[in-house]
Amino acid sequence: MTPEDRHPDWTALLARTGFIELDTRARAAALLDDGTARELCGPFDRIESPWLEPQDVVPESDDGVIVVKGRLDGRPTVVIAIEQAFQGGGIGEVSGVKIATALSLAARDSRSGTPTAAVLLLETGGVRLQEANLGLATVAEVCSALLELRALQPVIGVIAGALGCFGGMSIAAGLCTSLIMTREGRLGLDGPQVIESEAGVAEFDASDHTLIWSINGGTQRTGTGLADALVLDDVAALRSAVVEAIGHGVPREHRSQRIGELRARLEAVDPAHPPAPADLAAVWANAVPPAGDRR
Ligand code: COA
Repeated sequence: MTPEDRHPDWTALLARTGFIELDTRARAAALLDDGTARELCGPFDRIESPWLEPQDVVPESDDGVIVVKGRLDGRPTVVIAIEQAFQGGGIGEVSGVKIATALSLAARDSRSGTPTAAVLLLETGGVRLQEANLGLATVAEVCSALLELRALQPVIGVIAGALGCFGGMSIAAGLCTSLIMTREGRLGLDGPQVIESEAGVAEFDASDHTLIWSINGGTQRTGTGLADALVLDDVAALRSAVVEAIGHGVPREHRSQRIGELRARLEAVDPAHPPAPADLAAVWANAVPPAGDRR
């Protein structure tokens, strides 16, 4: 606990405008320059998932993803925000395509003379369980579009809270040019509920919040280099962190490409460190039987 935690500056605390308290549409608009936000494919376009009603789930007319185009510090930017309150921010066929298409269109604009950055507000339990493989396929499309855009313009991920970013979308988070978290945010591939149900409560207790935040929380993820900036839950602070991250431009090498760095970090915490790529090739060769042996 830092001295600031023990003796918070109450005036500064009360002057803050909590980003987490805003709903998803307001979060997206709060990041953009005043008066520039324009929603694309909004609720009145009624683009819904066709897969929910047959499973007795009421669909939403934006399928839980809000795409807003505007300017951020004067630069053309698209903010893509996932609605955590709808199906735990789970990504389905339609919502995933909205994200992937928005990223691809930003790439198209960037190539044709209007450099357009993207900001992803990631509050998601990953693939929407009701859409299973369709969700998985669409998360792959999101990652592919993100890779296309990040070569041209920054793609900034923000995990503010309160749901966090899990499942396939944590892979998208890892591909971002820069990832910003608050200490309330959470990031992980398998979510606590999934680990507990697959491996038992002794492996991971999904009701133990201290445990969850000590592993998945923003402070931990930033401290271990899996996220780039830890920012206060405050609209102005988050906005300026995003502006700064976009201002850094496209790096020569993205974090997800710095495999040696990530491997060294794993080796530091795991004595049975992961095998080197050459060893992996041997493992793969032994695991896959020759074509004639396959049944
Ligand atoms: N698809 C559909 N619904 C989902 C979902 C998903 N992928 N992830 C979460 N939800 C739903 C939950 O069922 C719950 O619905 P309910 O309110 O109707 O009960 C709601 O979202 C909130 O989730 P809950 O678990 O109550 O909130 P939490 O804050 O305690 O935990 C997570 C949130 C995301 C950490 C937790 O739900 C989790 O571990 N999910 C699994 C994430 C994962 O491993 N995904 C892999 C799929 S690729």
